[in-house]
Amino acid sequence: MESIDDIRSQFEFTDQDQENLKLLGEILLPMSDQFAEDFYEYLKLHPNTAEYFKTEEAIARRKETFNSWFNALFTSKYDNRYLLRLQKIGKVHVKIGLESYFVNAAMNFIRELCRSNIAAQIKDRGLKEEILMTLHRALDINLSIITSSYQEEKIHKVFVSQKAETYLIHLAERLLHGLNLFLLLGLLVLAIGVVALL
Ligand code: HEM
Repeated sequence: MESIDDIRSQFEFTDQDQENLKLLGEILLPMSDQFAEDFYEYLKLHPNTAEYFKTEEAIARRKETFNSWFNALFTSKYDNRYLLRLQKIGKVHVKIGLESYFVNAAMNFIRELCRSNIAAQIKDRGLKEEILMTLHRALDINLSIITSSYQEEKIHKVFVSQKAETYLIHLAERLLHGLNLFLLLGLLVLAIGVVALL
């Protein structure tokens, strides 16, 4: 995975975007509990995601993890420490067997919650556009880092299967070598036997 500097540069996430996150946080963080509730309702609505929330404990964890992620989205410095945090979130989703497709769809839901609130609360057109651009960049950076874990998991699987393949080839070669040696010895014994008979 690229460094955070590469990612920031690719998404054209500037120091001004970092600064703009503060205003986004001021507007959106007071709605965090409500958004966590809406997010959970959304996940419950779809059978593929609802199946993960069968216990009270899982539901409580869901709201807690949403609030923690949402807070970090606006208050973190987008540095390598933040990158590691997002990678860890991605790995948790790979580990629970959730398709990346559901994370993409969920981010789309969160994006719309945020976008509609910002659009309603910032009246100045220029400022609204700038702040919305920052919002999209921040969410896209989050999404691409979280979902990159899926790609890395695939590469890991290919790597592991390649290692297994190499091991099997080595084993087959050694067996063949042993067999050749055995045949050679057999032929030698046969030749000595024939010479002894003559
Ligand atoms: C933009 C989308 C999403 C974000 C930002 C997000 C965020 C998070 C975070 C921060 C965690 C905690 C990771 C940790 O323990 O370090 C987490 C865990 C989890 N997420 Fe997500 N998530 C998203 C989408 C989804 C979706 C679509 C599902 C659907 C089922 C889901 C189910 C879970 C579950 C089951 C856990 C494990 C909770 C536990 O530890 O008990 N997430 N998520």
